Amino acid sequence: MFGPVKIAPSILSADFMNMERDVALIEEGGAGFVHVDVMDGHFVPNLTIGVPFVAGLKKVTRLPLDVHLMISNPLEQLPWYLEHLGEGDFATVHVEALDMEAGEVQKAIDLIHEAGVGAGLVLKPDSPADVVAPYLSQLQMVLAMSVYPGFSGQSYIEGTEDKVARLAALAREAGVAPLLEVDGGIGLKTAGRVAQAGADVLVCGNAVMKAEDPQAAIRDITAAALAAREEA
Ligand code: DX5
Ligand code: ZN
Repeated sequence: MFGPVKIAPSILSADFMNMERDVALIEEGGAGFVHVDVMDGHFVPNLTIGVPFVAGLKKVTRLPLDVHLMISNPLEQLPWYLEHLGEGDFATVHVEALDMEAGEVQKAIDLIHEAGVGAGLVLKPDSPADVVAPYLSQLQMVLAMSVYPGFSGQSYIEGTEDKVARLAALAREAGVAPLLEVDGGIGLKTAGRVAQAGADVLVCGNAVMKAEDPQAAIRDITAAALAAREEA
């Protein structure tokens, strides 16, 4: 019933002075996506990278980019990022940064689709799965945060797997299958739990990029996820 599990290493944990080398390493190591954490120092306390960096990444990898926008004003800034993204890439925006009643979630999805990019909604740990239900049929990805966004290297919040299971159930009920992604504290110990609940894409920051052998880490985490799925 489940498809494959893919690893999306987060370059936030890479060596920024050797980014091209690190991206090539994960590409050759079987990563499914490059996870790009855009933080604006406002929606989250941390500040990371912006548009020129995303544009540069597109030039050095064939892997699709999975751009996780942790920014306060996604409707204003989305077009800047979308200009550099294309088919196969994903742009994900936080529901907490959008006014749902004012139609902003719909506007964000439309903007992303007009650029030919996969659209995703992201839920912080305290936002319930059901918030995305009205939009599921239009989404290519739903990201459940398993840490409070802002920093890599945090511990997985127990129970996130229940939210993933709920998202999987909602998608089944709606007869759709957006990629279900989990982000934060995912590694060998936690990959099985979220994959069993239905996660298709596992973001791994420290567990891959800070591993002695990032390529082995991708293989091992994928194997752990698949083994857990087979048990399900
Ligand atoms: C956190 C970011 C994550 C983070 C993951 O706000 O969205 O992508 O870099 O890092 P790890 O896997 O180390 O928790
Ligand atoms: Zn992220």
